[in-house]
Amino acid sequence: MFPSDPLQAPLWAVLASLTHARRILEVGCGHGYTAAVMASAAGPDCRVDTIEEDPDHANLAEQSFERRGLSARIRVLRGRGQNVLPRLKGRYDIVFLDGDWREYPGYIPHLRRLARPGSIVVTANLNPLFGGWGGRLPGKPAIQSYLTRLVRDPHFRTYVVPGEWHSISVRV
Ligand SMILES: C[S@@+](CC[C@H](N)C(=O)[O-])C[C@H]1O[C@@H](n2cnc3c(N)ncnc32)[C@H](O)[C@@H]1O
Repeated sequence: MFPSDPLQAPLWAVLASLTHARRILEVGCGHGYTAAVMASAAGPDCRVDTIEEDPDHANLAEQSFERRGLSARIRVLRGRGQNVLPRLKGRYDIVFLDGDWREYPGYIPHLRRLARPGSIVVTANLNPLFGGWGGRLPGKPAIQSYLTRLVRDPHFRTYVVPGEWHSISVRV
């Protein structure tokens, strides 16, 4: 389990300010590092929903939120993104995808539905598309399909961050 790079932490403060975030969604909670950073960056009026399929990771994340006094603002939704996303309603100001990238193509209709114009979608784990060690990971066709569809989708404007294996999209 690899948490996000701490150098990325200020990104969430920037995006929370840009979007006046009140609701944030993450797929791939891990041990809760990014969810806690996002909740703290966005301030006390913001709620974070974070999806996690591994029960041990979900338990550790909830314990961490409890210790940090963030339990009331962060909800761990247990299950795979592809099963949990269809059950979610309403609009999120920021969505962070940091789970199994092979599911990403199936997320696109939900991203459209769950984002409002001006919402930001950050997609991590694009590594298999690029060279080096990431190129040896499975799932390259899924990421190609996801990014191609996202870039062509009239509901989004998308930028692939050079060297960071992330993309940033805005819902239009
Ligand atoms: C890279 S870690 C997440 C790290 C976390 N976002 C952070 O930066 O602190 C990926 C997590 O996603 C979970 N995961 C992988 N595929 C998933 C899926 N399809 N749905 C939900 N969780 C998933 C894994 O169990 C793992 O805990």
